[in-house]
Amino acid sequence: MTAQPSPVPVGSWTGQHRPLWSIDRASLPERTSVKWRAHPADVLPLWVAEMDTAPPGPVVGALEAVIRTGDIGYAWAEPYVDAVVDYAAGRWGVHIAREQVRTVANIVAGLTELLRTLRGDGEVLVSTPVYGPLAQAALEAGRTVRPVPLAANWRLDLAAIEDAFATAPQAAGSCVYVLCNPHNPTGVAHTRAELEALAAAARRFGVRVVSDEVHSPLSLTEAGHTSYLDVAPDSDAIVLFSASKAWNIAGAKAAVAIAGTGAVDTLEQLPLSLSRGASHLGVVAQLSALRDGQDWLDALVLDLRAARERLVEAVATHLPDAEVVRPEASFLAWVDCRRLGLGPDPAAYFLDHARVALSSGLEFVAGGEGFVRLNFGTHPDLVEAAVERMAASLS
Ligand SMILES: Cc1ncc(COP(=O)(O)O)c(C=O)c1O
Repeated sequence: MTAQPSPVPVGSWTGQHRPLWSIDRASLPERTSVKWRAHPADVLPLWVAEMDTAPPGPVVGALEAVIRTGDIGYAWAEPYVDAVVDYAAGRWGVHIAREQVRTVANIVAGLTELLRTLRGDGEVLVSTPVYGPLAQAALEAGRTVRPVPLAANWRLDLAAIEDAFATAPQAAGSCVYVLCNPHNPTGVAHTRAELEALAAAARRFGVRVVSDEVHSPLSLTEAGHTSYLDVAPDSDAIVLFSASKAWNIAGAKAAVAIAGTGAVDTLEQLPLSLSRGASHLGVVAQLSALRDGQDWLDALVLDLRAARERLVEAVATHLPDAEVVRPEASFLAWVDCRRLGLGPDPAAYFLDHARVALSSGLEFVAGGEGFVRLNFGTHPDLVEAAVERMAASLS
């Protein structure tokens, strides 16, 4: 059994406690963000990609300092850009210059504006199932979305991607492949070899890659994260990144678009309103997470590894006909419920009959029928309780 520290109030993470295990379970229903507010109080919310963690101490300190002194004006993003440059060098081994970085409000807004800004109206390709707002961003930007199914083992189907690149209308110059790196909802961390093959295909067919790397600090494997810019530094690719998911600060909006050296001019064309969407409190929070939040993140990753194993075990014990795709990154698990006989949308069944809110597989563009996405980024006892409720609802 994993040792469980005694609960400490949310807000007082000191480095002595573990971010997931040490949250005060009783106070969670009082949280005011969407995860805990969108459903009635009897529902256990394991849906939207927010975690329930004690907050990173450095982020709390940095926010407190500006709020206490009334230093809540417009954002000055230069130190955040410097922190991103240092983070990319230190964590990804990717050396970028400041002019390759531009702040944006958040990942999805950045992607939407980027697709609006890019020349042409070529198709936007995504490997499905995938985080739905990536496709929604393309539709909002007036693009057509082409889903390319992932392989049966949930990894990128490079032959299918190459085929799609070859046959996409107007492939030359205006077709975009949106990579989710690591992949949501499967938690697959793409290998260097896979990314190199993708980069070779993109080069060959003139397809621009936009890589969403927001979950990348939460690598649960020894191999760690490979940034797309590590395999295609001179390309016209753009990486979208922030500390929002890993440090659980999505409400403190300030993300970045990082261009390959061949795409710096694209950043210059992005609308000013996009950068202005990065708020001062967002910049302060994101900057402190990247600069000073590594110890907290290391502790969280240990907790997530343990929580993942406990989830896999709980599902094997209580829901043996369901199967967890064991994530290599982050706090989201893709669960195959097809053998439970609940039809295309098991999440709807579990909400009604188990009072557990999960993300429906149908939200992930294509290929998610019969699946749910379960967010295990909360106290592991709650995850186990949810699985028990789901099992009981079937009997
Ligand atoms: C893969 C992925 N990209 C982007 C986002 C949203 O990021 P943002 O809030 O910065 O738009 C999420 C949120 O769950 C996500 O999972």
